[in-house]
Amino acid sequence: LERLNVMKHIRNFNIIAHIDSGKSTLADRLLELTGTVSSQDMREQFLDMMDLERERGITIKMQPVRMIYKEYVLNLVDTPGHVDFSYEVSRSLAAVEGAILLVDATKGIQAQTLANLELAQKQNLVIIPVVNKIDLQHAQVAQTLEEVSHLLDVSGDDILTISAKHGTNVEQVLEAVINKIPAPNIEINKPFRALIFDSKFDAYKGIIAYVRVVEGSIRSGEKMMLLAAQATGEAKELGFFIPELSPENQLVAGEIGYIATGIKEPGKVRAGDTIVASKDSQADPLPGYQEPKPMIFASLYPANPDDFDELKEALAQLKLQDPSLVFEPERRELLGRGFRCGFLGTLHTEIVSERIRREFHVDLIISTASVVYKVVDQQGREHTIYSASDWPDPSEIKEAHEPWVALEIVTPTKFIGSVLDLLKNSRGHSVATEYLTSEKVKILYEVPLREIITAFYDNLKSATQGYASMNYTLIGYRPADLVKMEVLIAGKKEEAFSTIIPQEEAYQEGKRLVEKLKKALPSQQFAVPLQAVIGGKIIARETLSARRKDVTGALYGGDYSRKRKLLEKQKKGKKKLQARGQLKIPPDVFLKIFRG
Ligand code: GTP
Repeated sequence: LERLNVMKHIRNFNIIAHIDSGKSTLADRLLELTGTVSSQDMREQFLDMMDLERERGITIKMQPVRMIYKEYVLNLVDTPGHVDFSYEVSRSLAAVEGAILLVDATKGIQAQTLANLELAQKQNLVIIPVVNKIDLQHAQVAQTLEEVSHLLDVSGDDILTISAKHGTNVEQVLEAVINKIPAPNIEINKPFRALIFDSKFDAYKGIIAYVRVVEGSIRSGEKMMLLAAQATGEAKELGFFIPELSPENQLVAGEIGYIATGIKEPGKVRAGDTIVASKDSQADPLPGYQEPKPMIFASLYPANPDDFDELKEALAQLKLQDPSLVFEPERRELLGRGFRCGFLGTLHTEIVSERIRREFHVDLIISTASVVYKVVDQQGREHTIYSASDWPDPSEIKEAHEPWVALEIVTPTKFIGSVLDLLKNSRGHSVATEYLTSEKVKILYEVPLREIITAFYDNLKSATQGYASMNYTLIGYRPADLVKMEVLIAGKKEEAFSTIIPQEEAYQEGKRLVEKLKKALPSQQFAVPLQAVIGGKIIARETLSARRKDVTGALYGGDYSRKRKLLEKQKKGKKKLQARGQLKIPPDVFLKIFRG
């Protein structure tokens, strides 16, 4: 009974925001205010568990936490704000009843604020609007309040204004969570059903499922079943996040916690799956999540070929926490055995490769990220192209198609001109321009995904002094005039550098690529031609000039014939190397070229 009483006092919520709005900082204050973490244990961005997150100041991985405040249990699920991770956001939204919508007062509403809000509204979550960073001198509190009240159709008085950094008004946020967000439905007498919203590998306890219990209850030691995976397991341990795992005897409807499944095979415990008691294997699954769709593909190779198995293990483990990561083995000349991997975006690519380096100590070579193309051959068959090496001979291609996205850019009106300039080069077209307020505008565009996966985001930021923000969603495939560009180094084709590009950009891209290669490659003992080639035709060329090693340096005196002999010898050696066309390309060259 006491348990039931507590249940009425549960509040499950998360914080949605554009990146850098202060979500982790607000979470820190909530942890302090509720005494969940004592002030001497407090460090900045407490819920960002990975070093990588703290270094970059971004949240990649959500970390749930259970806090006690007055007589309430407050379950906070932290979520990332970057466009690549909106899938993570939707997972955490399904586990809660309400969301704090956090808006940075120095920036006002941004693209991800809108995108995340839309997701939250679809889930019928109660929204608590909060404007943050009011302590900053350049904070535009009045204007941000106007934007938010316009957006949510609420009065300015219903919006909290806080400084997460200094703790100003943060207590009001806790009060709003308690008063505005409903307690979860407590269907405790129904058979047990729980939604997995995340998971983590543990060598001792098996895969740990992060769950929201929707109905019924489960006790430690009970047998259970994962419906989609058709896998059985046993609740070896279960409990709450404080934020470390804290074991309990039982989890009941409405609560957020973890269940150590005892299952060891990765892939069996998947976010979106439903856990039931093993006797209820015929139960209906809970509405799961949309399968995340990788938007771009890149190949990862171990810099040291012996590390192939380590890389495989690393990817399998990362996939546990990140179902959006897909990979399959491939083999390429020069690089050996590696994996072709699908990612949500470029930041996602970077984060995954960085985690492999840091957490699994595997050095990587990463190919240029590419979108997925579709080609229809002369027989009318459709082929999906994940990498340039799969591109068919031009004579076999009837049509090529590339993915397009609906791009949403939110910017202060004074930067409209610069943003439109940038978009002019994107091969896209304008759909609409909507004024959010007189100072802020939302630009809707349709563009090929290829145009925005590399430098676009950085360019947008620098064109608008950091004020514009963007979000995009896939809208489908459209016909495109595409060609495969290859690279010859010292006359030898290096497939790893091949790319698919729009015909109209061929010359420009070719020139750019060989120039970049020239800068990135270390000079050799002989001159090396670098060529960009399309359909056998050279479209751009650079020469890596020879470095003359001073072989005569050790000699002194005037013995000219000896000197000449040495120089002759050097020349011969160079010829030999040149003839073999051998040039060792250091891994960092791949990185430099592929970085866009
Ligand atoms: P992501 O997790 O990457 O989406 O970022 P976030 O929303 O968690 O932002 P975070 O808490 O990391 O804060 C971003 C930056 O803003 C940090 O440098 C914070 O110190 C700063 N910041 C957050 N809240 C405040 C505030 O109220 N006032 C001031 N002056 N700075 C703040």
